[in-house]
Amino acid sequence: MAGTEITGATALVTGASRGFGRAIAEALSAAGARVVGVARDRDALAGLRAELGDAFTPVVADVTDPNVAGHLIDAHRPRILVLNAGASPLPRPLHQHTWQSFSQAWDVDVKHAFHWTREALLAPLEPGSTVVAMSSGASLQGSPLSGGYAGAKAAIRFLTSYAAGESDRAGLGIRFVSVLPRLTPATELGSHAVTAYAAYYGMDVASYLASQGPALTTEQAGKSVTGLIGGDGAGAFLLTSEGMRPLS
Ligand SMILES: NC(=O)c1ccc[n+]([C@@H]2O[C@H](COP(=O)([O-])OP(=O)(O)OC[C@H]3O[C@@H](n4cnc5c(N)ncnc54)[C@H](OP(=O)(O)O)[C@@H]3O)[C@@H](O)[C@H]2O)c1
Repeated sequence: MAGTEITGATALVTGASRGFGRAIAEALSAAGARVVGVARDRDALAGLRAELGDAFTPVVADVTDPNVAGHLIDAHRPRILVLNAGASPLPRPLHQHTWQSFSQAWDVDVKHAFHWTREALLAPLEPGSTVVAMSSGASLQGSPLSGGYAGAKAAIRFLTSYAAGESDRAGLGIRFVSVLPRLTPATELGSHAVTAYAAYYGMDVASYLASQGPALTTEQAGKSVTGLIGGDGAGAFLLTSEGMRPLS
């Protein structure tokens, strides 16, 4: 399926207040999109608005609310939808989790991906639209300090592939792709995880990071996701400091 023309398109990015989401909003804006950024941190969104100007519309909302998904998709009719928002897992070994902390990524990340993906199909978005969902490299190898996070991110990859199938079956022409970033200390979520894993393995943070190889930056993530939207790939993509690699 062909990529989506970014210049002049409306892109909606969830979790745009910081981290990957902010960098993706910046990269899409630089590529000529009008960007709607959704998150709960009003001040951080205002900062991004000050940086990007009128081409950026901040929306303060909880993306796990299904009414928010329906309302914003109806109001903005995005050609590009980036489902990036996610909760930062409480970093603890399995037996130190409660059910609430274990299931947090299901209650936030998966719930959000489900509601917004469903609304994208129901609307439906225009043919030629692209929906990108943030899964995680953890969905491939596990994440023993993050409770149910790795399984939740695998569910997002499946959910996205099911949506791609439904789009094909109904001839909607909406492309659904998932992105699996490798753990990086470049974001709040990632730096909490890196600190926890370094301590778990009895290493200092610098030694742990050195053992992992070059870290993905938020700028690389923004540019890579923007390239994926404009390109013609389908399916799931591993995202590292070397860029996007399609997964079979
Ligand atoms: N960093 C990594 O190493 C890594 C690796 C693999 C996958 N990922 C995935 O990449 C995505 C972005 O992660 P990140 O590292 O950039 O994390 P981050 O810096 O912690 O940012 C998370 C974003 O999600 C938003 N968010 C969380 N819950 C929300 C809610 N209920 N409603 C609205 N917005 C919400 C936050 O905004 P507010 O707090 O302002 O609402 C924030 O903008 C996540 O899905 C994460 O699982 C990250």
